[in-house]
Amino acid sequence: MDAKKREKALRIFAKVLNDIKPSKLETEATTASVNKITSELLKIVPKDVEIKVVGSIARGTELKGNSDIDIFLLFGKKVGKDKVTEYGIRYGKELAKRMGGRYEIRYAEHPYLRLYIPNIGADIDIVPAYKIINITEMGTTVDRTPLHNDFINMHLNDKQRDDVRLLKALLNSHGIYGAEVKTRGFSGYLCELLVYHYRSLLNLLEEATQIKLPYYLNPLNPEEKGSKEIFEKFNSDFVVIDPVDPNRNVAAVVSHESLSKFIVVAKMFIENPSEKMFYGYKVSSADSYSMLRQYMKANGLSASLLVVPIPDKSEDITWPQLKKLSGAIVDYVARNGFQVYIELVTVKDKEGLVLYMYPSASAKTRMLKGPSVPGNSGAALSFINAHLGSSIIFSNSTLYVMEKVRYESMNEAIADFIKREAHKKHKDIKLGKAKLASTIPERYAEHLYWELLAKTSI
Ligand code: UTP
Ligand code: MN
Repeated sequence: MDAKKREKALRIFAKVLNDIKPSKLETEATTASVNKITSELLKIVPKDVEIKVVGSIARGTELKGNSDIDIFLLFGKKVGKDKVTEYGIRYGKELAKRMGGRYEIRYAEHPYLRLYIPNIGADIDIVPAYKIINITEMGTTVDRTPLHNDFINMHLNDKQRDDVRLLKALLNSHGIYGAEVKTRGFSGYLCELLVYHYRSLLNLLEEATQIKLPYYLNPLNPEEKGSKEIFEKFNSDFVVIDPVDPNRNVAAVVSHESLSKFIVVAKMFIENPSEKMFYGYKVSSADSYSMLRQYMKANGLSASLLVVPIPDKSEDITWPQLKKLSGAIVDYVARNGFQVYIELVTVKDKEGLVLYMYPSASAKTRMLKGPSVPGNSGAALSFINAHLGSSIIFSNSTLYVMEKVRYESMNEAIADFIKREAHKKHKDIKLGKAKLASTIPERYAEHLYWELLAKTSI
């Protein structure tokens, strides 16, 4: 990057930072909230339980108006695992009651409580864990988090914390921030480690354009190379070792799709630094319906929308189920000659939405591949006999038959799949209650248009 571009990039960073970094006022309000919560908790929890504020707020890497307050309740090792959860949840509920708020029990690697308290803008997570000094004492996977806190607070300077914020905003605006199964993007901690290793955001973006797979990074030992054994051990070709736990790949959930998007975003920014890249796409409810229609028309696409009721569980549990089901549908229609161009799987409130977009004109026949003839005359003849009345085609040495497709339309194929599968168990997904539409109802348009943009634009 030449000096002029570099200057431009840094100017953009400064300007964007102004928008995304919490103001002094906001930080003070957050601190006041955290103090209030802590002092209430002190009245609830016994003395030997430590209250620790962790996450981006405790590290100075939080985004304006966008972060949760993460509070850990740290128990001694003599308390049993079940008790840690039980007490933690109990104290959290008591806190909600005292502060006049409500709570939800959430299940990540182990249960925690999400609190909504009046007059506190952020969600509050109360997470029970063990108090550990060294990773060898780890009792639950979340025990690492306070150690992450210490590592980041020890190693990042203020400038780098601002760079982490910018990185989060950049990834956010491209739909690749966050470790949730749906996103499979970069977690806050991974952002912090990347900025730590590459020293600055600009340097990280420049280096990211060169990322190749397999990729290995041990922030504590930058010279160390990944080996076949390491990639096998983590069952991944994108490995970032957790400085507080050598057995943990911080990038474990990052999908190839998210990584590739990041590399393209980095390349675009390095070639042509632009402020817009930090702000994402604006979707307004007023015109998303017509934008969706326009997109489909311009690309000659039709749509099928499947809507199923979803139980009130964490998206990390329901989304993968929906995605698996959708994948089975895509496979089924493909076997019947229909190709899905775009598949969107998303949960909105208590409904799962699966949208397929595909070419409006569909073929009446499909090519079915048969055997290679030389050395297989018997199989070739059986193939021909099995498809009497159909058109046989020789392509080089391979036989094909042109077969009539079973369904007239994509919708018909999907509907038949649902009919066949509806009585079977699909965990939380009640396929029997699914509704299939070939036009997109306006009330889903904004949500789906946003998902479409997240999937198809950069
Ligand atoms: P958060 O998801 O709240 O992330 O997890 P964050 O760093 O505070 O970032 P934002 O600003 O809210 O988005 C809190 C902490 O829990 C640990 C990390 O230490 C993280 O900082 N954690 C969370 C993980 O180790 N892995 C995860 O997948 C999620
Ligand atoms: Mn957080």
